[in-house]
Amino acid sequence: MFYEPKNGHGLPRDPFKALVAPRPIGWFTTLNDDGSVNLAPYSYFNAVADDPPIVFFSSGGAGRFKDSARNAVERGEFVHNLVTWDLREAMNATSEEVDAGVDETKLVSLDLAPCELIETPRVAASPASFECRTIKTVEFEQNGEDGPNTLVFGEVIGIHIAGGALEDGRFDPEAQKIIARLGYANYAVAGGTFRMLRPELLK
Ligand SMILES: Cc1cc2nc3c(=O)[nH]c(=O)nc-3n(C[C@H](O)[C@H](O)[C@H](O)COP(=O)(O)O)c2cc1C
Repeated sequence: MFYEPKNGHGLPRDPFKALVAPRPIGWFTTLNDDGSVNLAPYSYFNAVADDPPIVFFSSGGAGRFKDSARNAVERGEFVHNLVTWDLREAMNATSEEVDAGVDETKLVSLDLAPCELIETPRVAASPASFECRTIKTVEFEQNGEDGPNTLVFGEVIGIHIAGGALEDGRFDPEAQKIIARLGYANYAVAGGTFRMLRPELLK
């Protein structure tokens, strides 16, 4: 089949997200106006550079900003917490739309730990967290009328890795059971990995 997204796909469900899969899940702690903690997952999330390390996430479908994006812009900081198999239910629960100001970490009984360089706390049970400074936003208009998609870019200024998550100095996503988003309601857990050396290393 071929379709132009602006004209619809004609399928029972939009296949787009299943066609860009697996996607890493950004799970963001941010601080609301009143200092309470906001936590929510975003799978339009990725790293775009490593010197310096830069990540982005995209907030769509709720006016200009969802809470995480608004907080990241207003406070100038956010934290990404890596999501594991054990944290999957908590991650999903924090995607529920609740009023701004509701501390989602309390709804799912998650402990927080302080960050080193920013005020926003991190999820203590996550094997890795990134302390991010918001550096840029980019807006893309939607075809619908539900506000633009707002992309929030952050420089990763601090990285926490749990002591037990390193083996021989390496972080292994498979051993840590990192989860990723597929399409529809499907997820993947890191596995079935294989090694392949870049061509220049084989010469
Ligand atoms: C795995 C997963 C990935 C999601 N990815 C996105 C995303 O990339 N962009 C988005 O706008 N919403 C995404 N959502 C929905 C948000 O998590 C949801 O709207 C949430 O209530 C936003 O919370 P906030 O307003 O506190 O930031 C995702 C939900 C789940 C469960």
